Amino acid sequence: MSTEHKATLSFTDGTPSVEFPIHQGTIGPDVIDIRKLYGATGKFTYDPGFLSTASCNSTITYIDGDKGELLYRGYPIEQLATNCDFMEVCYLLLNGELPNESQRAEFVSRVSNHTMVNEQMHFFLRGFRRDAHPMAVMTGLVGGMSAFYPDSMNLMDKNQRDISAIRLIAKMPTLVAMAYKYGIGAPHMYPKNELSYTANFMRMMFGNPCEDYKVNDVLVRAMDRIFILHADHEQNASTSTVRLCASSGTNPFAAIAAGVACLWGPSHGGANEACLNMLMEIQQNGGVEKIGDFINKVKDKDSGVRLMGFGHRVYKNYDPRAKLMRETCHEVLNELGLQDDPLFKIAMALEKIALEDEYFVKRKLYPNVDFYSGIVQKAIGIPVPLFTAIFALARTVGWIAQLNEMIADPEYKIGRPRQLFMGATHRDVKPIGQR
Ligand code: CMC
Repeated sequence: MSTEHKATLSFTDGTPSVEFPIHQGTIGPDVIDIRKLYGATGKFTYDPGFLSTASCNSTITYIDGDKGELLYRGYPIEQLATNCDFMEVCYLLLNGELPNESQRAEFVSRVSNHTMVNEQMHFFLRGFRRDAHPMAVMTGLVGGMSAFYPDSMNLMDKNQRDISAIRLIAKMPTLVAMAYKYGIGAPHMYPKNELSYTANFMRMMFGNPCEDYKVNDVLVRAMDRIFILHADHEQNASTSTVRLCASSGTNPFAAIAAGVACLWGPSHGGANEACLNMLMEIQQNGGVEKIGDFINKVKDKDSGVRLMGFGHRVYKNYDPRAKLMRETCHEVLNELGLQDDPLFKIAMALEKIALEDEYFVKRKLYPNVDFYSGIVQKAIGIPVPLFTAIFALARTVGWIAQLNEMIADPEYKIGRPRQLFMGATHRDVKPIGQR
């Protein structure tokens, strides 16, 4: 963080001016360091939704929303999605560098050795209704991991953080597949560690104990790409939740469970499920012919309808992940002979109309990653309510990398935002008969 310039804040209420350092990152907007503001003036800043606030400094992920650029540890997402697999990306996010062959082999072997979950987890799972939403189940199971691994709960101990990171990354696919199989009343498939991380997940999802599971490389590669594209995305809502939660010194499993809970929302990770439901609704109500009516509804603010899979707080250009997902979508549909998939046709038509429509152009609303990822997942056979659980599986490594970075930061403090109080001022409690 270099500091060359200063910002001066002056007031019209008689408060003396204050000078603040301006820090420069390696790229991206400069930040005004206002940490001394309250001490110097007795005033807070007000920024609901963090529209202008950097909550931390980070070296992990960089987004240029105007250019539509996404870098993990400096590497463009396009190169990572094309040349690396998810395990290499996990190693990169956690350690800062891509692994060489022996580092990769050692990391994969460590993760593979932790794919099984404690047998008691099955009994815990059975407490849920079979029709429970997978994200409800995942929030419970991930939080429940705290009850199983008392030896890796101390967030302040680097070795314990490290082993809990491996446990979480290794067990998330097992837990997601367990949640799925439980929901459909099918037998749980134990992990098979000779398979790759992603092929193992596909087998646990779609295999059954009566038959050998045949790995389809195109579908595994597509799922692996979904994992890579969702692995981290700087200080989004769920990552900020994980950081804030962990800032109290809670255990890593509890902090990641908080991230899972936040991700569930339809404005965040839940958008992939909401997007596919939207495409299916358009299909049921007349298909491509009726897209114009749907777009009119989206443009009518009173309808409360949004074009799901469009728009992003940071990207004011095409989300680079959406471009890669669109490519994968073609590959998967071709592989499965679903080139004429009606949902894909609706998505393409919707995208074309929205990209030309004044409403979306003016507001710089472009497709985000969720616009195509739902179609890919549905084609692979993932049920719609499981989409966000797969996002959580992939994002776990990003949450852990961010959490580790926060704890190792010498400036680390418990997160404690302040407020602009607009409620009643001091008043006295009247006896109940006089209220
Ligand atoms: N459809 C219609 N209008 C929209 C949309 C949309 N999807 N997104 C934003 N707008 C409009 C919004 O009504 C507002 O218009 P106006 O200026 O006239 O009031 C303007 O665009 C700015 O919107 P905003 O709500 O202030 O923007 P935001 O940065 O707070 O919201 C967002 C970002 C992602 C929540 C929002 O774009 C959205 O709800 N998109 C649909 C849900 C979605 O696809 N989310 C996935 C995000 S990517 C995956 C992830 O990171 O989790």
